[in-house]
Amino acid sequence: MKNIKFSISNISPTDIKLVGDILKSGWLTHGKFTSLFEKEIKKFTGAKYAISVSSCTAGLHLSCLASGFKKGDEIIVPAQTHTATAHAVEYTGAKAIFSDVEPLTGNITLKEIKKRITKKTKGVIIVHMAGHPCEVDKILKFCKKNKIILIEDCAHAVGTFVKNKHAGNFGISGSFSFYPTKQITTGEGGAVITNDKKFYEKIKKLKAFGIDTDIKDRKKQGDYDVKSLGFNYRMTDFQAALGFKQLIKYKSNLKKRHLIAKRYIKNFSRTEEITHMPYSTNSSFFVFQVFCKKRDELLKKLKKEKIGVSVHYSKQLPKMTYYKNKYNLKAKNFINANDYGNTNISLPIYPKLKSIEVDRICKIIKNYLTYEK
Ligand SMILES: Cc1ncc(COP(=O)(O)O)c(C=O)c1O
Repeated sequence: MKNIKFSISNISPTDIKLVGDILKSGWLTHGKFTSLFEKEIKKFTGAKYAISVSSCTAGLHLSCLASGFKKGDEIIVPAQTHTATAHAVEYTGAKAIFSDVEPLTGNITLKEIKKRITKKTKGVIIVHMAGHPCEVDKILKFCKKNKIILIEDCAHAVGTFVKNKHAGNFGISGSFSFYPTKQITTGEGGAVITNDKKFYEKIKKLKAFGIDTDIKDRKKQGDYDVKSLGFNYRMTDFQAALGFKQLIKYKSNLKKRHLIAKRYIKNFSRTEEITHMPYSTNSSFFVFQVFCKKRDELLKKLKKEKIGVSVHYSKQLPKMTYYKNKYNLKAKNFINANDYGNTNISLPIYPKLKSIEVDRICKIIKNYLTYEK
């Protein structure tokens, strides 16, 4: 029985050789490939500015700081997301206000956001869960009207579009993740996009210690000033090279993701015990999520069959001890997030995944739900 991995990166032997060449060159950080990668991100997303960072969490943290979030502010975030979305808010001293999400997409909605608006609401962070586009255009309209800052957590959203515009271009910024299971990987890594020059300048400074002058712009070697506190959230040049090489071939990766998603949907079309994320031509299908009441038993079965799957995410954030101790929120306020957490399974989706492997995964799941449950 051959195992099927949950994720396989789209990295070729020439990409690996390039990383080796950079390592041999000795120029390991803020070099040629960092700017090439940032240029390619701008081209792919259509954003005016792109900044590579050490992770999506770093990008979200900087976006919250550059937005001026501070103690006393409330920022609405989905209850069903990675803990990084809420942590980014909490790092600034502001308070994360959790919102319930939509069943099947796991996305935050304008309706749920509206229920949580107070005088202290300064921002909203949305997530395009599993790569499925959020109703970000409606949310943006509302935020603009109410002077609320919108930030997009695009950790799952390389290749997600809303009305022909790439995700991350709606809010003041969009932060992407290049963690190993993501559509594109640099090991750890991320990028922030924005269309606001001032915001871009702020993020650029905050990302590199608060230093006010780029190496290339310094009149005298080593001459720069620091007027505010910053971090070291830079990405290395060999990581940037890996990201660059994957991004230039990402269009065909995305096409394959859609073909696989369609194959899953066709296979599951007559299985009542299982529901799945909706199909959208605008999705980037970071994973293919299915929902099933007997999730935990099914996970055991899939493990026995050597099928790599994941869960995004099992426990809604208000139930995590840190947030539970701090805010003591009632689970009944997040019914959909709770169901989502208890029933979701993320199935593999990547260009190297073969059709017969997709069919095998579906057959195991369907047989289990029909005969063994
Ligand atoms: C929705 C979401 N936001 C943020 C992050 C954090 O990304 P990173 O690991 O690049 O910091 C993740 C990680 O998977 C995520 O799923």
